[in-house]
Amino acid sequence: MVQHVAWVITLIAMGAVALSFLWVAARAGEFAEYPGIVERAYRLRKVLFVVLLVVSGGVSVLTLGELPYATASYGTPHEGTFRPAQVVEAVGSRWQWELSPGQIVAGRPVQFRVTSTDVTHGFGIYDDAMHLLAQTQAMPGYTNVLTYTFQRPGTYHLLCLEYCGVAHHGMMGEFTVTSH
Ligand code: CUA
Repeated sequence: MVQHVAWVITLIAMGAVALSFLWVAARAGEFAEYPGIVERAYRLRKVLFVVLLVVSGGVSVLTLGELPYATASYGTPHEGTFRPAQVVEAVGSRWQWELSPGQIVAGRPVQFRVTSTDVTHGFGIYDDAMHLLAQTQAMPGYTNVLTYTFQRPGTYHLLCLEYCGVAHHGMMGEFTVTSH
């Protein structure tokens, strides 16, 4: 979608520059006897060319980067076997987390389906060094899907990232990621 918009904008800008080139080319002779008019046209062309460079360069930089969210493919085709995501139901309620199943395998995407039974909580996944790895909101009446692949087996932690009452700070959880 963003790429399409960028393309249309780029094409319109290129079209405008091309039209101005044609206009200058077609009418250059006509205005030749007016002093300075051709020079002004060439200056305008230079400016438009710089604008085109800046716009197309910016659009390229903005659209060619990696997508800022996880992809929806749960297997790598070249491995020959399709490995479906592990689906984990994550439910927050004052003031605890419940994961089912509670055990996760490393190296395979996990699709956390996150919701809440009462108020909005913040579902934050931390590694054992308490670095935040991924997060989404746990909202009553909604299921937010958070996909994450754990690279290493070990113990991971859940912290609530949204103030949800007197024991918000104690709303912690823990789960284990195994190698297979
Ligand atoms: Cu749950 Cu803060």
